[in-house]
Parts: sequence; structure tokens; C-alpha cells
Amino acid sequence: MSNNFAIVNDTLMPEDKASLQVNDLVIQRGYGVFDFFRTINGKFIYLDEHLDRFFYSASKMRMDPGRSKEKVRELINELVSVNKFPDSAIRIMLTGGFADDGYTVTKPNLIITQRVFGMTTENDETGTTLASYEHQRQLPHIKTVDYIMMIWLRPFMNKKLVTDVLYHQDRIVTECPRSNIFIVTRDLRIVTPADNILKGITRKHVIDIAKKDFMVEEKNVTIEDVLYAKEAFITSTTRQIAPVLELDGTEIGNGILGDITRQLQNELIKSLLS
Ligand code: PDD
Repeated sequence: MSNNFAIVNDTLMPEDKASLQVNDLVIQRGYGVFDFFRTINGKFIYLDEHLDRFFYSASKMRMDPGRSKEKVRELINELVSVNKFPDSAIRIMLTGGFADDGYTVTKPNLIITQRVFGMTTENDETGTTLASYEHQRQLPHIKTVDYIMMIWLRPFMNKKLVTDVLYHQDRIVTECPRSNIFIVTRDLRIVTPADNILKGITRKHVIDIAKKDFMVEEKNVTIEDVLYAKEAFITSTTRQIAPVLELDGTEIGNGILGDITRQLQNELIKSLLS
């Protein structure tokens, strides 16, 4: 049993008392959006950008959050002041609402939860190994609650002995199920896919950091580009920057954390702690 508090529709309550009626569209049809961000030493990381993306996702899904961004921010502050977790992950979710007909979006329910989530200040050397998989996420710009393919692919990943998959369409890569991908080319450009992806907030900050020292391009990347890259890495709120050590059984670069990825990791960690 957790002692965490949660918020459901503006009401603070113990998380184990937080519940939804079974006729909510998120339960019946998987119709809902969310966003996910962190606090480090009690400081919100990129909160404005996560709130903007949350409201963007809601509007694209034709859902009315029923509250202003300021109100949602107030609710987050209320939750944080009660839970008192300085290093945490916060999830804000908006559901399709209770629908007796099973398909009409009604009054969305807002759920805010918080978990203890520690920040690592070490360079992530373990990274990730990938297997490519042909798939395009539905409504890729929107952060929906749909992670069906990621969960369904667990046995595929186990069979391939990899830690994650890389989605592609006709060998043009898009992203991993929960992160964005970058490559460092052999002529030291940093390239990341531009289309049919979720525009990650970490991705945006890494682009800004990388632009100080490198040429950065947002454009199509193929599986062959990744295989031939000097380095590759993924970015997300959870992983920050993690090197890609292998794709489809082929080592990327030297198969270890590369110098440029390390440099970007250091700069991102510095900026998160500042
Ligand atoms: N995932 N692409 C997808 C499909 C994602 O779900 C995520 C985030 C990202 C990276 O976005 P950001 O840098 O804003 O976290 C890219 C979160 C972390 C999750 O599912 O838990």
C-alpha cells in the first residue's frame, strides 16, 4: 500500500483511494492523454513546457481540460507540498470522461500522481540496445496513453536480447516507444528525425545544448544512417541521454558511450542541477 497522495479532479486524496468509474473512455477505449515530468531537489524540470504539451495534446484530442494551466499548476503545487518528495516524477492525465454510449468524449477527468524518482548525476554508460521494428504510432505528435505496441513487443525484445525497440517506416526511423533518437554522424553533425514523432521536451533541450558546439539537423534518418553513425543516443524525461550501443546486433561506433554523447550528457546534467 502506498502512502502517496494523488489528485483526482481538484481533490487531494490518498492514492489508494483514487479511482475512476469503469465507464470512463480511458478504461473502455484507451482514450486519454498525459504528460510526465520530474522534480529534482524540489525544482520542477521544464514544467511550463510539459503543461503546454499537455494542453496541446488535450486540444488535439478534442478534450477540454476544464481548468486553466494556472489551475493545473496550483494543483501540482498542492500535491507536491503534501507528498514532500524532492526527487520525483509527476504524471498528469486527462481521460475521455464517463461515457455511457462508449464513444462520446464527455467531461474529462484530471488525475495527478507523484512517485519518488531519483536523479542520477553519473554518466549513463549502460545505455540501450535496440532492435528495429516497423511501426508508426497513431497520432504521433500527441502524448496519448496508448503504449500498446511497446507492451506487446516485450516478448520480441526478449527474443532479440535488446532493451528497447526502434520504430521505423520503410527504414526511415522515427523514435523509440518512450524516447527520441539522435545520431552523431562521422562528420560530427547531430541529426534527429523531424516527422511522425512525439516532440520530446528533452529532445528540444538537447538540440539547444548541442547547437552551441555542433551543427544540428532535424531531418529524416534511416536505419542505415544509425548503423553507420559514429554515435547514437536516445533522450527522454526518464533516461535523460542514454547511448545506443547496438542496433539489430550491430555495434554503433565502438559499442560504448561515445565522447560527444558524454559531453552532451554532462551539459544536460549540469543544466538540470543548476
Ligand atoms: N515518454 N517519444 C515518446 C513516444 C514518448 O512517450 C516520450 C516520453 C518521448 C520523450 O519525450 P520527453 O523528452 O518529453 O520525455 C518521445 C515518457 C517519459 C514516458 O512514457 O514515460
